[in-house]
This record gives sequence, structure tokens and C-alpha cells, in this order.
Amino acid sequence: MKKFVNAFDYAGHICKALPGGILMTTAAGDTVNTMTIGWGTIGIQWGKPIFIAFVRDSRYTKELLDTNGEFTINVPMGDIDKKILGYCGTKSGRDCDKFADLGLTREAPEVISVPGIRELPLTLECRVIYRQFQEENQLPQELYDRYYPGPVGDYHTAFYGEIVSAYIIE
Ligand SMILES: Cc1cc2nc3c(=O)[nH]c(=O)nc-3n(C[C@H](O)[C@H](O)[C@H](O)COP(=O)(O)O)c2cc1C
Repeated sequence: MKKFVNAFDYAGHICKALPGGILMTTAAGDTVNTMTIGWGTIGIQWGKPIFIAFVRDSRYTKELLDTNGEFTINVPMGDIDKKILGYCGTKSGRDCDKFADLGLTREAPEVISVPGIRELPLTLECRVIYRQFQEENQLPQELYDRYYPGPVGDYHTAFYGEIVSAYIIE
């Protein structure tokens, strides 16, 4: 069962959950993968409700998004096993199947091709309508030094996902 909601009624809940981590799920072909995100923005552009996720070049998630520009945002609605966010925030889907390893339950989507996750029930289905590589020369030195040290920058791309469905899995 899904309880359909207005995503903006949960904007505060989502933004408060972000620093502790929520999940972003992607899929292409037979592969479904999820990763922890701590950064994100929910709001409006072009008159559309949008969730923006910031994904570094090195993530398998980026590769899947480049193949299939759809994702779900998966937000806890109470306590969850902390192991989930730790595991999905350190292991890459290139090397393991995070759904199988953690016993996460997929929930069939409504509009897009990427599933939700029963254990993190607040779900935003998002279709990428714009993407923007964040250029290093636009960053203040302090943020550049803090977030992009080393010879390989591993910069972020902002993926603007139009929120095409929002619900709580019950
Ligand atoms: C709390 C937390 C927040 C994170 N936030 C982000 C984020 O916003 N963007 C990002 O690219 N990586 C973020 N990461 C790192 C990815 O989750 C991690 O590199 C993951 O293993 C990538 O998985 P993938 O290779 O399967 O895509 C975060 C990790 C943690 C633990």
C-alpha cells in the first residue's frame, strides 16, 4: 500500500534527515543500486517540484544515472537499522549488491522504472530534467580545499529530478 502525499509537506522532514543520511536509488538494465546521500535540495524551478542530488564523479550511482536518468529518494520515517546508511555510504554497487546484502525490500514504482525501499518508506520518484557539473573555479577556496583535496577532484554533478510521484509505503 502507498499513501500518496504532497512532497513539500515533508520538505522539513527530508532536510532534517539529510545530515544523518537518506538513500538515493538508481537502476539501469538489470541493476538496482542505492547509496547514502547527505546533501540535497527540495524546491521549485521551471514551475516544477524538484529534488536536487549532488553526486560525485566516482560513484557507481553516477554511472547508472548517466544510463537511466531516473532515481528515487528514500527517507526513514522513524528509527532504522543504522547499519543500512553506513553500508550504503561506504560500499559501492560496483563490488556488491547492497539490496541483497542488507535484505532491503524493493517496492514497485508508480511512474518511473526505479523502485522504492520498504524500510525507508517516504519515497520521491524523480526524473532527471537537468544536470549541471559543478565547476571548481566557481567555488570559494575554503570549500575547494575542504571537499576536493588531492590531485583528482572527484567533483559533484547536480542532478535535478522532477518529483513525479511522492508517497509513504505502508
Ligand atoms: C552520511 C553520508 C552522506 C553521503 N552523501 C553523499 C552525497 O551527497 N553525494 C555523494 O556523491 N556521495 C555521498 N556519500 C558517499 C556515498 O554514499 C558512497 O561513496 C557510496 O559508497 C557510493 O556508492 P555507489 O558507488 O554504489 O554509488 C555519503 C556517504 C555518507 C556515509
